[in-house]
Amino acid sequence: MITGNYPNLRLRRSRKNDWSRRLIQENSLSSSDFILPIFLIDGKNIRQPIKTMHDVFRYTIDKLGFVIDKAIKNKIPMVALFPYTKKSIKNELGSEALNYDNLVCRGIQYIKKRYKNEIGIMCDVALDPYTSHGHDGLLKSNYVLNDETVDVLVNQSLLQAQMGCDVIAPSDMMDGRIGKIRKALDKNDHQMVQILSYAVKYSSSFYGPFRDAVGSKKLLKGNKKNYQMDFRNSDESLREVSLDIKEGADMIMVKPGMPYLDIIKLIKDNFKIPVLAYQVSGEYTLLSNAIRKGDIDDGAIIESLMSFKRAGANAIVTYYADRVSSLLK
Ligand code: PBG
Repeated sequence: MITGNYPNLRLRRSRKNDWSRRLIQENSLSSSDFILPIFLIDGKNIRQPIKTMHDVFRYTIDKLGFVIDKAIKNKIPMVALFPYTKKSIKNELGSEALNYDNLVCRGIQYIKKRYKNEIGIMCDVALDPYTSHGHDGLLKSNYVLNDETVDVLVNQSLLQAQMGCDVIAPSDMMDGRIGKIRKALDKNDHQMVQILSYAVKYSSSFYGPFRDAVGSKKLLKGNKKNYQMDFRNSDESLREVSLDIKEGADMIMVKPGMPYLDIIKLIKDNFKIPVLAYQVSGEYTLLSNAIRKGDIDDGAIIESLMSFKRAGANAIVTYYADRVSSLLK
């Protein structure tokens, strides 16, 4: 591998000038690498700050134009919609997920009507923003039921597809849902709707600020360890991904992001499939708080995003999508 020796070989030669560093760079970032998450809230003309996520907001549907205009101007290929659901609409079954007039449905319709296919829309399939207990599925004796939950997720997916969602993204970690969702989509004339499987989603402390953003944090009883993955494992991620590919996943998500770069690389090396990484809310909060305090400089943002590319990610869901894209221009 090594083709020479010091002093003939000096690796610092190629690092001396900026032009040379650029010439031999192995990875790059562009706005096409980013997916922008957007939190939706009911009401009119509101841009509501999220306490735990500085500079991230919840928007009412009528404010979406402002957000999407900017995303398109920044050449961001896709946005991900997440609803903040009022406590009064949540119940045990998360039935608001199947309301054709819920926030996500209205959000999809607003964007599709105004922007057609100028930008992609991805939507989470899971019940946690809608359940009174904060879990991603139906509960029985404090256990999240698998098959019964999958039936609801199939209907949630169909509803989103019918509204115009481009990418269905099941983030619930139930077994067998990708196959069932694919089958139902195809049967209902949604053959071209893609499935992005959160195949590798770890039970993580890094989701805290997100749960606050969608209003499920205080409600969540216990943890999600009996359905999300154990962070001590990596072989298991290969099994999850191979199953989901067989069931029809178009793309795979690994989540959280930075503490799981080894998993991104493992998946990319083993399956030549588009792999997306999610730089989750807790990672965002850690980074942005340290930058705001002045303890680290904001170069850490690009550095963190580049690590995903180095690991092999095709794209990154990040709350920095907009800010970094305008920086990169
Ligand atoms: C819900 C969902 C979560 C996130 C995305 N979809 C949280 C969870 O599983 O509890 C986390 C995203 C983030 O932290 O930024 N299924």
